[in-house]
Amino acid sequence: MTPLITVGILTVSDRGASGAYEDKSGPVIEQLVTGPLKATVQQKAIVPDEIEAIKQMLLRWVEQDKLDLILTTGGTGFAPRDVTPEATRLVIEKEAPGLVFAMLKDSLAVTPHAMLSRMVAGIRGQTLIVNLPGSPKAVGENLETILPALPHAVELLREDPLANKHHKAE
Ligand code: MTE
Repeated sequence: MTPLITVGILTVSDRGASGAYEDKSGPVIEQLVTGPLKATVQQKAIVPDEIEAIKQMLLRWVEQDKLDLILTTGGTGFAPRDVTPEATRLVIEKEAPGLVFAMLKDSLAVTPHAMLSRMVAGIRGQTLIVNLPGSPKAVGENLETILPALPHAVELLREDPLANKHHKAE
């Protein structure tokens, strides 16, 4: 059975955080997770491109809100202010490179600029954190790639550590 997935959407943008620019990428994520994924968006925030601000919000959503999934958008490129992957690495305990591989594979078929995203995906506790690039177009293209695998990802994260695994020898 597909679990009900709780989601946090973190938009990382200096201009978005200052109010100078309307966040268009957060709403694209919201539409995709509440539509095809039938998830619930429990937290939404916009923070500037600063490691500490990003890290603190991620930690709060993992430790206090215990969200299943956090999707960030923005700050994954090569510009000096792009630090979302660095902040994410400070929070995750395990990397999930398969998700990034899949997104890059599909995105490179769309644009060579896909190779300019340094996005990271990983796990802290029972929360999966995935970076997405900043533009609404890139968000849609990347998120659509990983959506089909997310219900099973969440199922695995919620697995009881004391339960006997069916594929382990007795
Ligand atoms: N991936 C897809 N699928 N489609 C895109 O248009 N844009 C790229 C890349 N990934 C893009 C994409 C561009 S132009 C950049 S600079 C990087 O994501 C990083 O974006 P960010 O700094 O906004 O996170």
